[in-house]
Amino acid sequence: MPELRFEPGWVLVEDAPEPEEEIARSTVFALANGTFGLRGAPEEVPASEQGAKGCYFNGIYDTPRGLLTEREFPNLPDFACVWIEIDGERFDARSSRLEAYRRALDLSCGLLRREVVWRTQSGVRAELVFERFVAMHDANLAFLNVSLKVDRACKVVVESGIDANVTNRWADHLAGVRFSKVGEAIFCVARTTDPGHDLAEMTVQFLAAPRPGRIEIVEDRTRYLERYTFELLAGESASLLKPVAVHADRFVRGSLSQACQRTLRRALQDGWERSLARHRRAWARLWDRSRVDIEGDDDALLGIRFSQFHLLAAAPYRDARISVPARGLQGQDYYGSVFWDCEIFVFPFYAYTQPEAARNCVGYRIATLDGARRKAASLGFEGAYYAWQSQETGDDQCDRYVFTNPLTGEKIRSYFMDEQIHITADVVYAFRQYAEATGDDVFWSEGGADVVREAARFFASRAVWVPARGRYEIHRVLGPDEYHENVDNNAFTNAMARETLRTAIGLAERGLLETSDDELARWRDVEAKLFVPEPDPRTGVIEQFDGYLRLRDEPIDETNRRLAHPDLHKGGPLGPFQETRNIKQADVVMLLYLLRDRYSDEVKRANWEFYEPRTAHDSSLSPMAYALVATDVGRTDWAYRYYLYTSHIDLGAYGPHWNHGVHTASLGGAWLAIVHGFLRLRLTPDGPRLDGWPLLPEKWRAVEARFEWHGHPMALRAEPGRVVLENRSSADVPVILPSGQEVVPARGRLERAHGV
Ligand code: BGC
Repeated sequence: MPELRFEPGWVLVEDAPEPEEEIARSTVFALANGTFGLRGAPEEVPASEQGAKGCYFNGIYDTPRGLLTEREFPNLPDFACVWIEIDGERFDARSSRLEAYRRALDLSCGLLRREVVWRTQSGVRAELVFERFVAMHDANLAFLNVSLKVDRACKVVVESGIDANVTNRWADHLAGVRFSKVGEAIFCVARTTDPGHDLAEMTVQFLAAPRPGRIEIVEDRTRYLERYTFELLAGESASLLKPVAVHADRFVRGSLSQACQRTLRRALQDGWERSLARHRRAWARLWDRSRVDIEGDDDALLGIRFSQFHLLAAAPYRDARISVPARGLQGQDYYGSVFWDCEIFVFPFYAYTQPEAARNCVGYRIATLDGARRKAASLGFEGAYYAWQSQETGDDQCDRYVFTNPLTGEKIRSYFMDEQIHITADVVYAFRQYAEATGDDVFWSEGGADVVREAARFFASRAVWVPARGRYEIHRVLGPDEYHENVDNNAFTNAMARETLRTAIGLAERGLLETSDDELARWRDVEAKLFVPEPDPRTGVIEQFDGYLRLRDEPIDETNRRLAHPDLHKGGPLGPFQETRNIKQADVVMLLYLLRDRYSDEVKRANWEFYEPRTAHDSSLSPMAYALVATDVGRTDWAYRYYLYTSHIDLGAYGPHWNHGVHTASLGGAWLAIVHGFLRLRLTPDGPRLDGWPLLPEKWRAVEARFEWHGHPMALRAEPGRVVLENRSSADVPVILPSGQEVVPARGRLERAHGV
């Protein structure tokens, strides 16, 4: 598909409509504010046309009628619908005669603007501008502004309102829709099927035209539209302003209608210009705390800007009952469920730059602890085993039969839910990272320590004592590489489980976690005797799981060729990967990144080189790990390649076709590749630390990242042979450089030269 253009620094531009690619483009151009998300599809595309359009409210899930799909985000009624007709001809960018076209997203402020010049059959030259934003300053507001200007007299019809003729891809979630008028406003309440949430939208539309026309109401069971008919003369313009309030009953105390009215009242008081100015300021504040700049490489800059934009759009700023779904709020793939993608890939960006959002992600796991307890108990274990696919209760939404065998129609047993136990360790890993980066120790007593205790209990009960070998082992798991099922002693899982026990023991020793002496003794015993596969002393390679190195070694292409049907799951007993050393995604290499202090550079190099040709990258979570470990071993060229891969995944150049929504993990990985990778920055309890001098890809003249350590806003700039740390706070900040400990003075800078 033709590439998008990146205009100076911030604006992403599409120069021609790409109807075939609209699902992916509607993801790229999606807007969100952490509370709800609106896909970027054009106003005139009817919501009933599957795919492009979509609007999702974070934290609202529904079980549809029938069993076509799992519980998921229901698609809300479409309020981003506006149809324009001139002299009886309806505008549609996909089929109308266009003399100019541009759809542009301003990443600095989340303003989507589409400008077209349309030549109608009747010969009118109409300039149309569609603008919209999902308010960052007001959680429940979206605002649309549509204008047109014509070069000769014509008859215009504008139709706009709320269209509830929506479904999800495989299911219909709305059990009922009610429209009413509240004063001048159109009010729509859609009720989902199960558990029966009320989702409300309200809009007051203002049509401004040089002379009054006719207004009619177009109303049926699924729509309520206002239809304005008027005349324009040569050179005249008209515009439609459409502020929309969007609320969900789960998050509103009292009446939905009143909540909507309050939101609309604020928007109406401000009008378009002032609302937009507030929205821009809110975005400017987010960027001010977190922006990354790269000098000398526009491709790389686009990658990080785009990644940060969508991560900032998806962050849960306002509520600790919600988190970040794997595809953000930008689409319905993966059902709006939260995976380890959040804790391991996305979360560090928030912990380092938007600690309030990170605290809410932590809060979400605290709030869903009971679901995790239920899951552990249902499988016969103690403690808490977090859901592989988590929604609002924390009960696992992942089915035991995720795939169907396309050759026989039979369901295939899969083990994501019952065996991917590292998810519990990932949650604890994120908690510790949050505490270290932000200095917040209070959250341990606000439920944080309960999560760690339950996690430690889980691993202590999940590990088995093997008397013959005098050690604990962990059997029958699925590691991050989901193609090899039911394996024993997956290095990633065992190492992360041990890390969890260490965190629990450490907190107990500091008096931050309560437990009995017996239990603490048990954790210490398991921690000390848990088998964690070590690097082979000769080759340095860590065996991914017991017996992995006995598997067949062959090029990935060959394995792929043996797939019996293109839609067959590639892993497990029916897929061709299980009997080979080829893997779906980074596994050992992911571990070497997460626990990078525990492994030497030689071990990292040996494993990177061993696993890289054997990794299919069939998951978008994979490239970032290879970028990060490449920076640890000084392979900047490879790190750069994988950085571009991970940061451009949704921009269309690479990547899997699951593009209904952004690949949040891959985008988070882009930020990690820069901050933990090239810049080698880590926020520790003792201060920001450089694990080595920064490494810059050849093209980069400089890279700079803002971050916050324990409440102090800072920035780190790296140029070849030089680093500058800036302290934007009013207190001195200690930093640990490869050359030793130093202090960056309040409102001051510290500059150091180093060998390249
Ligand atoms: C990956 C998982 C990931 C999930 C959601 C899968 O394809 O293998 O690691 O959590 O997608 O993004």
